[in-house]
Amino acid sequence: MTELETPDRLSEARAALAEALSLHDRGDLEAAEAAYRQVLAQNYRPADVLPLLAGLLGRLSRPEDALVAWDHLLAIEPDHQVALHEKGLTLHWLGRTEDAIVALERVVALEPDNATAIGNLAVVLADAKRNLEALRLFRRALALQPDNLHLRHQVRRLGAGAVPFWHIPMMNDVPRNDAFEAAIRAAIGQRGGEARVLDIGAGSGLLSLMAARGGARRVVACEMEPMIAEMAQHIVAANGYADRVTVHAKPSTELTVGAELEGPADILVSEILSSDLLTEKVLDTFEDAHRRLLSPDAIVIPRVASAMGCLVASENLADYAFVGDVSGFDLSAFGAFAPQRLPIHGTMTGWQRLSDDLELVRLDLRQKKHDATLARLRIPVTAAGRAIGIVQWMHIDLWDGVTFDNHPNGYHDGGWLQVLHSFPEAIDVTAGETLDIAVGHDRITLILWPLPPEPA
Ligand SMILES: C[S@@+](CC[C@H](N)C(=O)[O-])C[C@H]1O[C@@H](n2cnc3c(N)ncnc32)[C@H](O)[C@@H]1O
Repeated sequence: MTELETPDRLSEARAALAEALSLHDRGDLEAAEAAYRQVLAQNYRPADVLPLLAGLLGRLSRPEDALVAWDHLLAIEPDHQVALHEKGLTLHWLGRTEDAIVALERVVALEPDNATAIGNLAVVLADAKRNLEALRLFRRALALQPDNLHLRHQVRRLGAGAVPFWHIPMMNDVPRNDAFEAAIRAAIGQRGGEARVLDIGAGSGLLSLMAARGGARRVVACEMEPMIAEMAQHIVAANGYADRVTVHAKPSTELTVGAELEGPADILVSEILSSDLLTEKVLDTFEDAHRRLLSPDAIVIPRVASAMGCLVASENLADYAFVGDVSGFDLSAFGAFAPQRLPIHGTMTGWQRLSDDLELVRLDLRQKKHDATLARLRIPVTAAGRAIGIVQWMHIDLWDGVTFDNHPNGYHDGGWLQVLHSFPEAIDVTAGETLDIAVGHDRITLILWPLPPEPA
């Protein structure tokens, strides 16, 4: 008979546990903790007492101490599922994401149908930016609990979080789509169905599907966002083109001829143009493709992209670009942080044109190499006003007679917004004068900067 098993010690331990439970019930958590520890000191029913103590420590907002209690329990029962689950959540609370994932993965391995544990593992993976794994787990949990709105919300939240807001309107942009399809068909018509087509930035797979429908039998696509790539694979298969289109979940810079591409591509189709042309790194991507992935005479779609723009005045937009006196204080210094580029909806925002349309920057995407540029552009002013900057849009040339633009006068709710490039300060101008600006790019952003007039 051990010491605890003596009738006196046993009844003493039982009484201590009863006292601890009663204190716990009454909400006297500090006293309950002391009582639980006394019970544990007597080694009485530790597997029952430790979860109570750990839970209590959690309520006292003492995650480190709770973790010690869960570890103590796991030392006794290494596969204790509640302990592993709670340990995982506690580690997550403490910001120890990788350790939390290990603990929760063990729970899910032990309880493959525990939707709560699967969902919690997904939450932690999402926090660790492992979004595709998280999404798959949320879907798995949802299959177990189809009516669980929390899980549905998480599936939708993660999917939406991986895809920028403009993606759906872009796919619904019929003039854009028609222009790309016309150019793709013309290119395949010229090079034949055996031409190798490379689609960089597959998105939904739309341009690859157009190429396959247009007769291309060898289409290789890549999409660097894994969740979108998985969706493109699904959509390509669902539309019956999986035998002609292969989607790789990779950035184009990780493709190689001899691996994903059997040989250099004869046709490049790629729509990775941001509203200001450059911020999706179109120059780096096209240069890399020319250098490593394309045949020397490859057709490139689009072949030229231009940033177009005009000088504007706007009371509304001025409030986004400048700040001065506010509530009787001078806050003008904060203007140093004003956005240089402000996406705007050209037809919904009030602004007035102070010049004709001008080509600001022209990118010939057939060129193998691009340098940063900067040049003086003289803008003839056509109306008097307070010029706050340049409203810019794009014009792309895809094939002979096939162009597309999002000119603010005629373009509604497509994939591209127009962009206000605000000046550091507003400039009063009058009709008939000329305003000089420096225009160019640093390869990833447009540069538009007002200049003093040139000396006569
Ligand atoms: C503007 S969307 C176009 C999608 C589709 N091609 C279309 O036209 O509907 C561009 C997509 O390209 C992807 N992307 C951008 N640069 C990429 C690159 N270098 N390699 C692979 N994917 C890229 C982005 O993640 C995004 O999903």
